[in-house]
Amino acid sequence: MNIEAVYEMVDKDLQEVEKELDRNLQSEAALIPEIGKHILNSGGKRFRPLILILSACACGYQEKVHIKLASVLEFIHTATLLHDDVVDDANIRRGNSSANTLWGNQASILVGDFLFSQAFSLIAQIDNQHILEVLTGASTKLAQGEILDLVKENDVSCNEQDYLSIVSYKTASLIEAASQIGAILGRVNKEQEMALKSFGYNIGVAYQLMDDTLDYISTEEEFGKTIGKDLKEGKVTIPLIYTLRNSPPGDRKIIESTLGKKDLTEKDLHILLTLIKKYHGLDYSIEKTLYYAQVAKQALNGITASPYKEALMTVADYVTQRRT
Ligand code: IPE
Ligand code: IPE
Ligand code: MG
Ligand code: MG
Ligand code: MG
Repeated sequence: MNIEAVYEMVDKDLQEVEKELDRNLQSEAALIPEIGKHILNSGGKRFRPLILILSACACGYQEKVHIKLASVLEFIHTATLLHDDVVDDANIRRGNSSANTLWGNQASILVGDFLFSQAFSLIAQIDNQHILEVLTGASTKLAQGEILDLVKENDVSCNEQDYLSIVSYKTASLIEAASQIGAILGRVNKEQEMALKSFGYNIGVAYQLMDDTLDYISTEEEFGKTIGKDLKEGKVTIPLIYTLRNSPPGDRKIIESTLGKKDLTEKDLHILLTLIKKYHGLDYSIEKTLYYAQVAKQALNGITASPYKEALMTVADYVTQRRT
C-alpha cells in the first residue's frame, strides 16, 4: 500500500471533514471566512484527521462522530499554524503567502483564536468525558510546546532531551490525541488504547523530526515553506544539536557566535550549513526519524490485522519519506 491508497481508503470521510470545516467558518465578521478559507483551502495534508479516522476504523468504529472530532483536530492545528507563523515570522505557508504576510499579525492571531473557539464549540457537542480530557490535555500541551520552543530560540545549550520535550509537546501531543481518540471511539480495551496512543506519539515525534530535517533539505516548491527558516530564526533543532554535540571547541565556538547574531547573512548561514554537513547532523536526524517510526509500528503489534492497520503502518513509513 502507498500513501495515496491510504488517503483514497478514507476519502469519503475526509470529504465530510472538509464540509464540517467549511460549515464552521461562517461568521458575520468577514475576515474570518476570508482568512479561514485562505489557509484551509490552500492544501494541507489533513494528517491529524487522517490518523484519527484510520485509528477509529482500525478499532472497528462504524459511526459518524469521528468526522466531528477529526474536524476539531484540524481546527486546532490550523489555529496553531496561524499563530506559529506570527511567532516564527514566516512568509510562506502551504505554498502561498502566509496569513500574517497578507493580513498582518493582529488579524492572524484573532482568526486563530476564533478557530480555537470553534474547535471547543464542536467539542462541546461530544458527550464523552474521556475524549474531552484527551483533547483539552493535547491542546494545553501544544500551547506549552510552542512557548518552550520560543524561549529556546538562539539557545545553544538546548540539548537533545530539551528538544525532544518541545517536540513531544508542540507536535506529538495532537497526533497522539488523534490516534487515542480513534481507539476510544472504537471502544477497544485499555491496552489497545495505549498502543494506539503510543503509535500516535511516536509518529508525532517522527513527523516533527522530519519537518525539521526538511527545513534544511527540501525545496520551497515541495515543502510549501521557506527553506532554511529555522536556522535564520535561531531555532536549535536536531541537526544543529547533534552538530554542536559532536564538534570540537573551535567549530563549536564558530556556531555559537554565528547563531547569536541578530540578522544572519547568507555567509553566516553557509558557515553553519557547512558545519552541519561536516558533522553529519542531517544523517543523524534522519536516523532518529526512522527510529521513532519503527517504534510507532511496533506499538501496533497487539492490534488486530485489518486494511486500516496496514494503512497506519504505511503512514508511519510515509512520515520518514515525505518531502512535503
Ligand atoms: C506543520 O504541520 C507543523 C508541524 C507540526 C510540523 P503539517 O506538516 O501537518 O502541515 P499541513 O497541515 O500539512 O500544512
Ligand atoms: C511548529 O513547528 C509545530 C506546530 C505545532 C505548529 P514549526 O514552527 O516547525 O512548524 P512549521 O515548520 O512552521 O510548519
Ligand atoms: Mg513555524
Ligand atoms: Mg514554530
Ligand atoms: Mg518547521
